[in-house]
Amino acid sequence: MTPHWNIFADAAEVAGAAAEIIGEMARHAIERRGLFSLVLAGGATPMAAYRLLREQERDWSRWEFFFGDERCLPPFHPERNSFMAHEVLLDYLPLEAHQVHEIPAELGPEEGAARYEPLVRNSRPFDLVLLGLGEDGHTASLFPGREPPTDRLVVPVHDAPKPPPERVSLNYGALASCRGLLFLVTGEAKRQALADWRRGREIPASRIPVPFQPEVLVDEAAWGE
Ligand code: 6PG
Repeated sequence: MTPHWNIFADAAEVAGAAAEIIGEMARHAIERRGLFSLVLAGGATPMAAYRLLREQERDWSRWEFFFGDERCLPPFHPERNSFMAHEVLLDYLPLEAHQVHEIPAELGPEEGAARYEPLVRNSRPFDLVLLGLGEDGHTASLFPGREPPTDRLVVPVHDAPKPPPERVSLNYGALASCRGLLFLVTGEAKRQALADWRRGREIPASRIPVPFQPEVLVDEAAWGE
């Protein structure tokens, strides 16, 4: 479905708006269902939002964190998405270990994906899935020109065009199994991918089959006007 584009002056404004949206969605979800499940994204733009989010007064005991993708690197490697999430957000919050579900990508793409699959199956629908946009249109670790098996919720990724080559990613259907989908897109380098998306060309970010309009927060540098 065509996204709802939200344009902001710069990356800081995108991060601020994202943190507000995440916090408010959590409040609603907790009011209605007692829990809030959030799928985290990697990248610099989400990182800025996480720094703001951790300052909010929230009922963190009701939050549950998942990851949209992970790089196949040793645990605690600084380039893992989980490392970043801990460093800027999770380690600041009063969480119990069972509230954070890291992808065991250190086991390699196949094993990591297979182990995360039942957790995703049993945790759907997520309240909110956060995603970034790569310069080539990728999102999570779903890259252009790849056709992951449609019968898997979590897929192994080999030969990713962006290092490291081995990754584990939630598949299109798993990312679509949510009540809210929020993309954070900043910086001039995203302009071409975003232009393709706006023109209706298929890129991985546009292929997530949600039955509602995803929200995309974009800064002017990425929007390009
Ligand atoms: C990765 C990154 C990547 C990132 C996008 C957007 O695993 O390679 O996480 O997918 O999400 O490139 O990144 P920025 O938010 O830094 O622009």
